[in-house]
Amino acid sequence: MNMEKLAIDGGTKAVEKLGPFPTKIGAQELLEILDMWEFSSESRAKIKKIIESETNLKGPHLFRYYNPRPSKVAAAEQAMMKLIGTKYCLAVNSCTSALVASYRALGIGSGDEVIVPAYTFFATSSTVAACNAIPVIIDIDDSLCMDPEKIGKAITKRTKAIVPVHMRGAPAQMDAIMDMANKKGVAVIEDTAQAGGGSFGGKQLGSIGTIGCFSFDFYKIIVSGEGGFVTTDDEWLYTRAQSWHDTAACWRPDRFAREKREGELFCGENYRMSELEGAVALAQICKADKMIAGYRRAKNRIKEAIEEFPGLSFRRLTDEGGDTGICLVMFLPDGDTTRRAIECMQAEGVPVGGIYDSKIRDWHIFSYWEHILDKKTVSSDGLPWSAVPKRELPKYSRDMCPRTLELLSRAILMDINYNYSDGDCLAIAGGVNKVLRAILPPRFLAKARVGVF
Ligand SMILES: Cc1ncc(COP(=O)(O)O)c(C=O)c1O
Repeated sequence: MNMEKLAIDGGTKAVEKLGPFPTKIGAQELLEILDMWEFSSESRAKIKKIIESETNLKGPHLFRYYNPRPSKVAAAEQAMMKLIGTKYCLAVNSCTSALVASYRALGIGSGDEVIVPAYTFFATSSTVAACNAIPVIIDIDDSLCMDPEKIGKAITKRTKAIVPVHMRGAPAQMDAIMDMANKKGVAVIEDTAQAGGGSFGGKQLGSIGTIGCFSFDFYKIIVSGEGGFVTTDDEWLYTRAQSWHDTAACWRPDRFAREKREGELFCGENYRMSELEGAVALAQICKADKMIAGYRRAKNRIKEAIEEFPGLSFRRLTDEGGDTGICLVMFLPDGDTTRRAIECMQAEGVPVGGIYDSKIRDWHIFSYWEHILDKKTVSSDGLPWSAVPKRELPKYSRDMCPRTLELLSRAILMDINYNYSDGDCLAIAGGVNKVLRAILPPRFLAKARVGVF
């Protein structure tokens, strides 16, 4: 038999060249993405022609690691570090993931306690339980954020972290919270989901505590559809969050490197951000300052033009200059007047809503967190509740944080659009004034006057 010489011995290679092959993700996928922008049919036809005429389309690499091109996710992390001012930043696929990765980075688990406010999106506390730890829920104050005065009594030997939430765009009382945390030796995780770009005492939110967590879901200030970031100055916590977010650090750049220090590698989950989200996040982070300036301008214009009514007060700002300005929160004397005011303002075209109505379920309010209040569990081991002796578990009830319910039932929430013109702002303030003049009982109108404050 005539045997050919093997390539390994200097013979001709059996396979000289494979391809070129068309890119897996190409023109069709790009057109699907562009479809979301709702271009006119003429523009769409022009774009389609240009895209389809490209003969050598390379196609995107939508995975951040082993990317032959500079990664958009990595660039977004760099941009976040610049914006927030921390030494480390990790992109993840949501703030829920950022919270879990942070709790895990801190080693929080079975039997530990984490202090959370009674008013926040459920994710802040559900993630505590998902890590098998126990959420300890405390009241808010008139800043709509965690009341620092309530922390002391909530701290026990099991407490591992406090999670202030910068609710509705404005900072929690970070000086008092940090003092308490430092005194007790517990970590602070700033849930900055709703306040990216805000600050307290001249420092960016998400850079004051041990770790900051951000949401880029579509309803936040800077958005990428879904997405989140973990920020910290602590290299070890960053490394551990990185391990958790990537199955077990399976895809990191030094993929098969052994752990440099015990505690670096452990079994995790997959919270990686895709390059598509990374690209949108990068563009949005670069626009953050401009958007926030727009929110602040519009909010201040509306607030200044609302008349002074003895029955009306505004949400207390712990740092006026650090508020992102994404909303204006007003308090009226009681729930009934508040509901009537909202109805009337909505009829005037003023964009407001209520925050709490005992008849309407809302995942932002502790009294609807039955998963926690009723100590529900996902598995037969009964965790997280079974890790602690029953008598030592927090006493949950639907009225355990009365100040939260009382404040929220009197609150009117006005979301601000950063594109509002001066005329829009004055029309909105005019609508508020018109309604309050008409519906506030006389005792609240006695001292009413037109004023700027
Ligand atoms: C305060 C707060 N924390 C956490 C989250 C969870 O964010 P994500 O939707 O990115 O998981 C949200 C989202 O609404 C939030 O408002």
